[in-house]
Formats: sequence, structure tokens, C-alpha cells
Amino acid sequence: MSSNEIAEAEFVNVAGIATTVEEAVRTRHSVRDYESRPIEESVLQDLFQKSLRAPSWKNSQPWKVHVVSGERRDKMASLLVERAKQGEPVPDTIWPASFPASAKKRMFDLGMKIYGVAGIERKDKEARDNFMLRNFEFFGAPTAVFITTEFDLNFYIALDIGCYLNTLMLLARGYGLGSVPQAALSAFPEVVRLELGLSESEKVVCGLSLGYPKENSDLNRYHTPRESTQDIVRFYR
Ligand SMILES: Cc1cc2nc3c(=O)[nH]c(=O)nc-3n(C[C@H](O)[C@H](O)[C@H](O)COP(=O)(O)O)c2cc1C
Repeated sequence: MSSNEIAEAEFVNVAGIATTVEEAVRTRHSVRDYESRPIEESVLQDLFQKSLRAPSWKNSQPWKVHVVSGERRDKMASLLVERAKQGEPVPDTIWPASFPASAKKRMFDLGMKIYGVAGIERKDKEARDNFMLRNFEFFGAPTAVFITTEFDLNFYIALDIGCYLNTLMLLARGYGLGSVPQAALSAFPEVVRLELGLSESEKVVCGLSLGYPKENSDLNRYHTPRESTQDIVRFYR
């Protein structure tokens, strides 16, 4: 599928700075093609300080946030890619294995559309595998973020960390930054722990790539669809 075959409505340009919350929400989407230029140190400090305003169960703040840039980022990428080539994920968390049929369709559609904008034929397994490995190169982003917790892994830890991730991703839009949350970055927690010098008790819950989105990239312009308000939201009076 060429990018021309995808309806214009499914594209949004994520370059530029969001100046309102609404704009941050509307222009936030998963960015999978980044400029290599580093994120300024002052931006990183400001962004991560503000991100800690995220809410959590009884203000428990179960997260530790590891922000990896520069040579450490490059080394982490090559270690993760090597490890991913060797075998299956062994995450600390339980990855979901079954989904309702309606969600399966959305997930299938997502795969098809992403391969389409990436110029990958569905039958080209090698190209699909290589694209999957891009997760571990942070899709070219200059900064990788790993979220860990020493808390028992439970439902509310996942909610708390979800709140943290979304707070971080929306704030990032205010600096013109793009991001993609990645379960993939929790696939090989032993690599992350070893490289960052973390104890066994730090479980890797999720990761995120962060950087300036590459402009004029079909991958970045693709905006995933959503179900209608009518189908999802019910108002009661
Ligand atoms: C918890 C979570 C884990 C995700 N893991 C990955 C991942 O490993 N790799 C990836 O490319 N995208 C990942 N995504 C991004 C989703 O595919 C994306 O959010 C979804 O398709 C909606 O698209 P949008 O973010 O562009 O709006 C993840 C998203 C979430 C919320």
C-alpha cells in the first residue's frame, strides 16, 4: 500500500510545538521516525521535573524513571538489538495474550497501516522483523526512557504508570517533542538492569522513545483512527 492510498484524514503533522492541552492531545501520536539531534539538557530537566505531577494511587508514586541519551543510549540500543535477535521476550510483567474480536481487528489494521507507511510488503517477513527491531533502536530517537518499579506488580501499578506515561507524552508536545510508548522496551529487563546498574528488585514495566519527530516522514504523519464517541461514550442524565 502506498501512502497515497491512505486517506488524507489519517495523516497529521506532529512537528511543531503544542501550545494548549487540547493541541497536545490532538497532535500526540506514536512517532516512529526521529531527527538524530539531541534533546537540549534544559528541556530534558524541565520536562522530567514537570512529568512527576502525574497522579498515582494514594500518591504512592511507584515509578523510577531512567532517561538514557548519548553514548549510553547507543550502547543500550546495540545490546537490546543483539538480545532481541537471540530469542523471545522475557518481560517482568505479563503481556496480554488474548483480546476481544473487535480489538483484534483494530490491532490487525494498525499493523497493516504501519507496514504500509513504512513501505513494507505484508509477506516480507524479513522486512517486518527488521522493522520490529527498530523498537530496540528507539526508532532513531536520541533519548530512551525506561520506567521501573520496586512495587509489587499489580493492576494499579499499571494504571499509575499509564498515567505517568501519558503525562510525559503530552508535556513533551509542549517542547515540540514526539514520543512512542513501548512495551517492547520491557522485553529484556535483564539487559536494562545490567546496563543501568539496577538491582533485581527494579522491574522494567515499560519504555518510551523521545525526540524531535522527523518532518515529511510518512511514518510520522500516520494518525491512527479512533472509534466514534457514539460507540464508546455514554452520557447519563
Ligand atoms: C502500553 C503501550 C505499549 C505500546 N507498545 C508499543 C511498542 O512496543 N512498539 C510500538 O511501536 N508501539 C507501541 N505502542 C504504541 C501503540 O501502538 C499506539 O499507541 C496505538 O497504536 C495508538 O496510536 P497512537 O499512539 O499513534 O495514537 C504502545 C502503546 C501503549 C499505550
